[in-house]
Amino acid sequence: MAKVSASILACDHTKIGEQVLEAEKAGADIVHIDVMDGVYVENVTFGPQLVADLKKITKLPLSVHMELVRPETFLPMFAKAGVDIITFQLDACPNPLHMLREVKKAGIKAGLGIGPSYDVERLRYLLPHIDGLILMSVEPGYGGQPFEESIYEKVKRSVEIMDETGIHVPISIDGGVNTVTGKKLVEAGADILIAGSSVFGADSITDAVKSLKAL
Ligand code: DX5
Ligand code: ZN
Repeated sequence: MAKVSASILACDHTKIGEQVLEAEKAGADIVHIDVMDGVYVENVTFGPQLVADLKKITKLPLSVHMELVRPETFLPMFAKAGVDIITFQLDACPNPLHMLREVKKAGIKAGLGIGPSYDVERLRYLLPHIDGLILMSVEPGYGGQPFEESIYEKVKRSVEIMDETGIHVPISIDGGVNTVTGKKLVEAGADILIAGSSVFGADSITDAVKSLKAL
């Protein structure tokens, strides 16, 4: 059974609280919050207040996906807001080991994000320092983008690197995840399915979460 991380980018933003609660009730495991700065990607999204407000209404871990430059400068305000997991994009951070240490020092789980056009070989050097990995199957910036099929081999290669190093952390996939791609991703070795459009764009959020969980 896959874990499901519900990506609120695809919510009706006037109803984020109630839609998160519906996803939680349906069995979602994590709330995924994309934070975009208009620099690393052209889109602009959520800030720390949303994290603090969601923290009051849901028991689910809040996972901030930083799609922004200089992630270390955003760390203190999201730490204060009560975030549980912070993932930043490897290509947005020249000194990732430093950032990973700072995240952990703040008592937050540290995740590494790798974009669809970057290979996963550097994982070998970063694995001892991370609590989770997000492999992106779309370019950061928007929901509902075309799914990159190369993700399957990247999931498999990541599992191989984890086997070789003996260090295993959960592998999440972000972008274009639905029941069809999700099934193949789980078969390839993915642990957590991050889903936006296929959950919050569905006729029934509840049914969509349950279908993904069943994979
Ligand atoms: C894209 C975000 C994703 C996004 C995925 O930059 O990181 O979390 O919400 O959206 P879907 O599931 O619609 O592809
Ligand atoms: Zn994301």
